[in-house]
Amino acid sequence: MKWLVLLALVVFSECIVKIPLMKVKTMRNTLSEKNMLNNFLREHAYRLSQISSRGSNITIPLLRNIMEMVYVGNITIGTPPQKFQVLFDTGSSDLWVHSVFCTSRLCSSHILFRHLESSTYRPTNKTFSIEYNSGRTKGVVARDTVRIGDLVSTDQQFGLSMEQSGFEEIPFDGILGLSYPNMSFMGGIPIFDNLKNRGAISEPVFAFYLSKSKPEGSVVMFGGVDKSYYQGTLNWVPLIEKGKWCIHMDRISMNRRVIACNGGCEAIVDTGSSLMLGPRRLISNILRLIGAMPRGSEHYVPCSVVNTLPSIDFTINGINYPLPAQAYAMEDSDGECYITFEENPLSTSTETWILGDVFLRLYFSVFDRGNDRIGLAQAV
Ligand SMILES: *[C@@H]1O[C@H](CO)[C@@H](O)[C@H](O)[C@H]1NC(C)=O
Ligand SMILES: *[C@@H]1O[C@H](CO)[C@@H](O)[C@H](O)[C@H]1NC(C)=O
Ligand SMILES: *[C@@H]1O[C@H](CO)[C@@H](O)[C@H](O)[C@H]1NC(C)=O
Ligand SMILES: *[C@@H]1O[C@H](CO)[C@@H](O)[C@H](O)[C@H]1NC(C)=O
Repeated sequence: MKWLVLLALVVFSECIVKIPLMKVKTMRNTLSEKNMLNNFLREHAYRLSQISSRGSNITIPLLRNIMEMVYVGNITIGTPPQKFQVLFDTGSSDLWVHSVFCTSRLCSSHILFRHLESSTYRPTNKTFSIEYNSGRTKGVVARDTVRIGDLVSTDQQFGLSMEQSGFEEIPFDGILGLSYPNMSFMGGIPIFDNLKNRGAISEPVFAFYLSKSKPEGSVVMFGGVDKSYYQGTLNWVPLIEKGKWCIHMDRISMNRRVIACNGGCEAIVDTGSSLMLGPRRLISNILRLIGAMPRGSEHYVPCSVVNTLPSIDFTINGINYPLPAQAYAMEDSDGECYITFEENPLSTSTETWILGDVFLRLYFSVFDRGNDRIGLAQAV
């Protein structure tokens, strides 16, 4: 009996599909000229528009600042498979990649999907347009076989990007959304839902481990949770509502004093956001409390004081998740320390925070579609 259980465990753990993620630097470090960066930010960073999708105005948590570092992994599309490096994003639900339909010079630096070379490609007559706060993409919707490691989704709907702005300098070829179908701009069934519905994964969960320092070692896993990536208990938090990866947060404090999220607020757990985003007034207060000084669109502290700054504590479902200064103040390529808390350009009726990669590097995160909950644990 014992070995039967053991066998089941072995089989089970083998069902987890792990995709290595690579931490890649974006704009901030690749664009050395500060002027260029500032112009870029002014032009693109906080351009937002109200978008209606399927009759309702969804508040898009695609409020990302991808000017920092992003984690990308490989998928393939088509027959024979064409490889793309994509951002696995819990803040959106659509999959798109750059395509040969894009004739702009800016597309030449990316891998483009060549539909004529895929025997399983099927066009549709739908178009799509998605607006992120750091960019926008537009194109046509098509269907083809998409592979994430050993997971195969045939006739999967995805977008062929024809035109984009704000995504010129990014080191990825597309975005793979892992949120609920409700968040989809294209409509149709997102890839994770297809894999789940077709029984391709043993458990309807996926999880992220984002490496703290090394460019490699990060992973997104599908179908189960590999316990070797976290220590201690995995704490489950129910979603506020089925439909997006958003949970209730109790408070945000510093030195045991509540500094934000007083009386509770909402927190979106977003692997597609590099930073921590919150309402302007509260972000200003935090920047003031830690003595950060504005320069351009950023706020800095001298790197020499980082070790003396207090941690910022996020309390979720009664559990404390501290974010030490070494995590929220990051040294840039000029040896200066910038603060990774930024104003959320979209104001929402309820106080909403976005917990991006800054937070997720410290806390291993599990996204459970079966039980509509998020698990958080201390990352190894
Ligand atoms: C993705 O594929 C490219 C090219 O084959 C490879 O260089 C890169 O290391 C891969 N990325 C990851 C994260 O495995
Ligand atoms: C969507 O937003 C527009 C403009 O703000 C508004 O006129 C419309 O009533 C909204 N629709 C819904 C379904 O909320
Ligand atoms: C798009 O496709 C749908 C379903 O296949 C069809 O009903 C519709 O007429 C098509 N529209 C155009 C503009 O071709
Ligand atoms: C998303 O869809 C589910 C059903 O599929 C529904 O229960 C839920 O209320 C929707 N959420 C939002 C935010 O619209």
